[in-house]
Amino acid sequence: MTEASAPGKLILCGEHAVVYGRPAIALPLGDVRARAIISAGLPGSGITCAAADLGRSWTLADDPANPFSELISKLLDLLALPATPDLRITISSAIPIAGGMGSGAAIATAIMRALATYLGRDLPPDVISTLVYTSEQRFHGTPSGIDNTVIAYERPIWYVRRRNDAERDEQNEAPAQGEIAPVSIAAPFTLLIGDTGIRSPTRLPVGEVRQRWQSDPLRYEAIFDAIAGVVADTRSALATGDLSALGQLLDANQSLLTQLGVSSPELDRLIDAARAAGATGAKLSGAGWGGVMFALASAATQEHIAAALITAGAARVLATTVAPIDPRSHAK
Ligand code: PMV
Repeated sequence: MTEASAPGKLILCGEHAVVYGRPAIALPLGDVRARAIISAGLPGSGITCAAADLGRSWTLADDPANPFSELISKLLDLLALPATPDLRITISSAIPIAGGMGSGAAIATAIMRALATYLGRDLPPDVISTLVYTSEQRFHGTPSGIDNTVIAYERPIWYVRRRNDAERDEQNEAPAQGEIAPVSIAAPFTLLIGDTGIRSPTRLPVGEVRQRWQSDPLRYEAIFDAIAGVVADTRSALATGDLSALGQLLDANQSLLTQLGVSSPELDRLIDAARAAGATGAKLSGAGWGGVMFALASAATQEHIAAALITAGAARVLATTVAPIDPRSHAK
């Protein structure tokens, strides 16, 4: 039996604009994970998948068009196995589905990691990330690639998709790997993640932004540029440990996301409640219209903010502390 897992993720800043070639920063959420367990199947059974959380069980032969089935087939092709192995894949996940925390990409990554290990192969993060991107395309339409990248590399990243990927979207082609760079973090900080409990499929707000951009490109390009400026300043604030600047930048990003039309009354209520309880910055994370928001908390405000989020209707609250990353460690 082989087990592997993959983390959830949080987009710190830059979502949506990242689809249009601007940078974004994302963090892995190591404590909230998806898992895949591989065990031997009966001879001739082929590959069976069981996902208790999704209430689903299927075989690759019966449901070859399932995005996870397609992904598994792609991996088997890549590994050039002589025959389909007989095995059972059991999937579980602590990451809310369609909640802005990368559940689909984390499940897909856990499956790839577990299968590769079970079959005695070593797959580097860039290969896993590229494979998982194809299942993200099936779920979301035109993903920027940030989710599969931060989850496969499992470290904070600065991410810029390639410009010509926007044209590839039109053709529905696979992307080239985006540009990734490490992020330096001088001071630890704690984020409280509030889940609205509203499941919002990524492709809906992403599609809305695309329509708005198509009907008024100048206005939306200007918003994307403003978000890019916030993301660049956030990178500097992280590198210098300026948490007060970080909070202001998160707020600035939220007001630009509101202009894009991807916030919602439920997200706004949680964001307002967190700020009123002492958060020095708060924003939605991911595609919006539901899913999660997060707030920058200190040791003194953390409990108060968590209680305020629950009172304001959060379905659950998670805390994550982002540890410092020494720039010198990037060279290793
Ligand atoms: O909702 P999520 O966690 O899948 O995040 C989507 C992030 C977007 O920037 C809105 C889309 C993308 O593909 O980057």
